[in-house]
Amino acid sequence: MIDTSDINKSRQNLDQYDEIWLFGYGSLIYKVDFPFLDKQPACIYGWQRRFWQGSHDHRGTQENPGRVVTLVQIDQNKDAMTEPCVGMAYQVSAEVFEHLDYREKNGYLRHEIPVEFVDGTIKQGLIYIADEANPAYLGEASISDIAQQVFQSRGPSGENRDYLLELARSLRALNAHDEHVFSIEQHLLRFLQSA
Ligand code: BEZ
Repeated sequence: MIDTSDINKSRQNLDQYDEIWLFGYGSLIYKVDFPFLDKQPACIYGWQRRFWQGSHDHRGTQENPGRVVTLVQIDQNKDAMTEPCVGMAYQVSAEVFEHLDYREKNGYLRHEIPVEFVDGTIKQGLIYIADEANPAYLGEASISDIAQQVFQSRGPSGENRDYLLELARSLRALNAHDEHVFSIEQHLLRFLQSA
């Protein structure tokens, strides 16, 4: 399995920030197993959440990977560029990244990104993205196939379906609409009802 934790250690000089803001768009919205100084709903632009990353270590296994979210860049000519990707921003200390780099080591790299807060303030933040070059990337599939894989997968961190349902619930709590996540949820609920 890949391990991006060492690469991430040297990607940014965390001493350069007065405040470190981490933007969470997936499990970081609801699985907050790290200390933080502040927490605020926020959004980023130009990116969409997609269940296109394989999970071999948390919600699936090497043999039967689950699917978890990553972000994909929106084609700059599309109107969707103006659609916010809503998530939760956490003000954290640099030490938190030792834990998170390990937790998200299956292909995620840390990037810098402008994060917009509810009051319109924009601050530079950090974000984890797993791009198509990483070996755990599964890429696009139909909504129904993604829901089927999520329905069938489980790993050391639990059922893949719980990851999806928790994410959808957390997005609703943030008043965020995410067509991709909510339509996978609809398919999944149908599979669960007929199981
Ligand atoms: C997040 O919730 O922001 C996140 C998702 C996947 C990997 C790392 C972080």
